[in-house]
Amino acid sequence: MTIAVIGTGYVGLVAGACLAETGSQVVCADVNRQKVDQLKQNVLPMYEPGLDALVERNQSQGRLTFTTDVGAAIASASVVFIAVGTPPDEDGSADLTHVLAVAEQIGADQQRELVVVTKSTVPVGTAIRVRAAVAKRSRFPFHVVSNPEFLKEGAAVDDFMKPDRVVLGVDSDYSRRVMSELYAPFVRTGKPIIFMDLASAEVTKYAANGMLATRISFMNEIAGLCEKVGANVDLVRKGIGSDSRIGPSFLFPGPGYGGSCFPKDVQALIRTSGDVGAPMLVLRAVEEANASQKRRLFEKLSSALDGRLAGKTIAVWGLAFKAQTDDMRESPALTLIEAVLAEGASVVAHDPAAMPEAERRLGARISFATTNYEALAGAHALVVVTDWNEYRYPDFERMKQALSSAVIIDGRNLYDSDRMRSLGFTYHAMGRGNA
Ligand SMILES: NC(=O)c1ccc[n+]([C@@H]2O[C@H](COP(=O)([O-])OP(=O)(O)OC[C@H]3O[C@@H](n4cnc5c(N)ncnc54)[C@H](O)[C@@H]3O)[C@@H](O)[C@H]2O)c1
Repeated sequence: MTIAVIGTGYVGLVAGACLAETGSQVVCADVNRQKVDQLKQNVLPMYEPGLDALVERNQSQGRLTFTTDVGAAIASASVVFIAVGTPPDEDGSADLTHVLAVAEQIGADQQRELVVVTKSTVPVGTAIRVRAAVAKRSRFPFHVVSNPEFLKEGAAVDDFMKPDRVVLGVDSDYSRRVMSELYAPFVRTGKPIIFMDLASAEVTKYAANGMLATRISFMNEIAGLCEKVGANVDLVRKGIGSDSRIGPSFLFPGPGYGGSCFPKDVQALIRTSGDVGAPMLVLRAVEEANASQKRRLFEKLSSALDGRLAGKTIAVWGLAFKAQTDDMRESPALTLIEAVLAEGASVVAHDPAAMPEAERRLGARISFATTNYEALAGAHALVVVTDWNEYRYPDFERMKQALSSAVIIDGRNLYDSDRMRSLGFTYHAMGRGNA
């Protein structure tokens, strides 16, 4: 069976490479010629642990190919995955232009009975629109499937190869059988394939991201409360995370969520729920809380420096919206950096993976350091934004010597407050009101 994956971004490339890894013949198509040319040379458009080896192996063994000829990819396939972007429209709703354009092209170029799988994150009701778009020019039977993707950037290959579950919205026995076969290699340990109707699958993706964003914002607000009342959010987190009804994941306070998914999916769900007369007040609050949280690092920095930032140098560790990725979309680091620059201070930043992306976005407005220690030279404060492993256990003496004043704002609670103070740092973490 030949599979075509249309769109080779984070989702399409990971899906294509992982499907090829289990033996399928996969052609990945993208309209971005430069991306495709580079992929043919095994040069990936992003940093994602383990993905380069997968692409190289499957490409060299002939199971994975790349093309800009979307029509030819569709013509060769029995299953087509739509994995193009769904950026937010001006009103916050998901922009379906790319998804529907691909759907029309599928109808025009299909050469046999086809399963059309939407992997992009799309609002409820999109399957019906995809079906109508394919039908415009289709000459063969086809089946629409909604297969939301739950991978995490930074752990995407593992998440795809060993998913907690696979969600499949189907409306025919044919597509149910084909998709069961396709995903069988990924659920051998007994993880479930959950079949459902198309609308429920579409809602499931947004419900998952809405829930996770809510947990993050809830904990960020609990952290704010802890600071005011002399409590420690790290202990509160353990106290509630050990409750089996709550569980330990996504309870770490931080500088606010970012990335390509949570912000836009929360917005889109607010929009959809409002449109159908079932407004989600919780999510509006989540969005508001997150916008305010993304200002917290700057507020803490400004207060630590008595509001006098002009002319100072601020070191920033971490630019990506989270560790193990070079993705800076909606990163809290950008909010911090813009606020610092607006005060007339300068920024020296380090990130193990995202500096090329930061340079593309910020150009010469900030400087970049080759190592995290180099970023500290002469700086008046350090702000830790991303929890990269290499920032977790640094040489504190070296840091103190390099900084011109030993002020640290730790947006990820990486260090022990007592230890930092005993070493002579002015140290501020998130939600530690008692330390
Ligand atoms: N990034 C994530 O972690 C993640 C996780 C789950 C779901 N999703 C969802 O998956 C979808 C894709 O996300 P992404 O991060 O991979 O996006 P991306 O922007 O990284 O990649 C999208 C790709 O689609 C290509 N494209 C656009 N129009 C095309 C067309 N007509 N024909 C062929 N190619 C076309 C673009 O050139 C680009 O390479 C989005 O709906 C997103 O919400 C993303």
